[in-house]
Amino acid sequence: MTTTPLQAVGLPDPYPYYADLAAERPFAHDETLGAWVAADAAAVRAVLGTPSLRVRPAAEPVPAGIVGTAAGEVFGELVRMTDGPLQRRLKALVVQALARPDRDRVAGLAAASTRAVLAGGEVPYQELMFGVPARTVAALMGLTDGADAEAARLIGDFVQCIPAGADEEQYKAAAVAAASLKDLLGPGLDGRGEGLLAELVRAARADSWPDTAPLLANAVGFLSQTYDATAGLIGNTLLALSRGAARPGDPKAADALVREVVRHDAPIQNTRRFAAEAFTHGDHVVEPGGQVLVVLAAANRDPSVNPDPHTLLLDRVNPVVFTFGAGAHRCPGEDLATAISGAVVGELLAAGWNPATLPESPRYRPLANARIPHL
Ligand code: HEM
Repeated sequence: MTTTPLQAVGLPDPYPYYADLAAERPFAHDETLGAWVAADAAAVRAVLGTPSLRVRPAAEPVPAGIVGTAAGEVFGELVRMTDGPLQRRLKALVVQALARPDRDRVAGLAAASTRAVLAGGEVPYQELMFGVPARTVAALMGLTDGADAEAARLIGDFVQCIPAGADEEQYKAAAVAAASLKDLLGPGLDGRGEGLLAELVRAARADSWPDTAPLLANAVGFLSQTYDATAGLIGNTLLALSRGAARPGDPKAADALVREVVRHDAPIQNTRRFAAEAFTHGDHVVEPGGQVLVVLAAANRDPSVNPDPHTLLLDRVNPVVFTFGAGAHRCPGEDLATAISGAVVGELLAAGWNPATLPESPRYRPLANARIPHL
């Protein structure tokens, strides 16, 4: 069977395939996918840098299955899912709010949550990978006393509506979850107190931003953007340790390990763009309506930007990393995600966890863009 870049995400080792793709077909049309595939650093940079390519198809700004539901309302106002001047203005508010939390505070919350999860004596990987990051971000938004755990549970339902190919049941569950999440987060938009929501409101007021609905939608977005991606980063870091990566002795070393895993075994392996106008790269033209799959994980290992790209090197100098995207939609949550992941891994090691207990060749969740091992 011929592998496609979407199937590669869940392979035990997709990297030889990606290396061939980037070397032989750095920007090419894939007949099986019916989409262009950008795989080397130059193509990925060009695709993420052009305003001609958008994050949603013009004909379907919101997935048809959730139009008219609370999930559709959230989806349609996410900075992640929209383009244009309004997106840029809202993005600036989101960036300000996410830049605010102190890294030590974030790590402290994640470490405390990890210790609570480990108190039962078992290592519940699912809870460590998905629950701890979601609860940490919920706590940063001011949700406490069980509301953080409720938000973490609900966001698991909401994210089901994001992948292309979600089914009716998933859309329904996402719609119910979105309505509950709005109820949970709504009161925090009074602009009082500390935390991510208060910062978002303060930034919005300073910019004379007129409407709270998009702020609420993007607060839900903080949780949904955290969920799969950070789970993948924690899981892939634990696997790197089981495969012989040096055990970090302090938080700085844990941070270096997590940041190199981001490049070496990207938790988000690809993203998509849709041509609103013609886009030219080299001799190739993507016509309006065309789709581009952007293989971030392949570009991370392009030897023209990262020497010795297949080796996990904790002291890499100025690595070029595409895992958090680039250009107008670049991820504003990188510091949060790496602080949380470093704290979870550090606490787990401090609790005596033995990396050798992980399966040598785990299965991966059947997702088209996130690489998350079943541990
Ligand atoms: C390891 C964890 C994470 C990874 C790998 C990751 C990756 C990404 C990528 C690739 C994009 C851009 C998608 C595109 O251009 O198509 C993105 C966007 C975004 N991420 Fe993250 N992310 C992570 C964690 C987080 C966290 C913890 C937050 C916030 C709490 C966050 C908030 C966002 C937001 C708001 C956007 C939309 C930005 C925009 O469209 O302008 N992310 N992320």
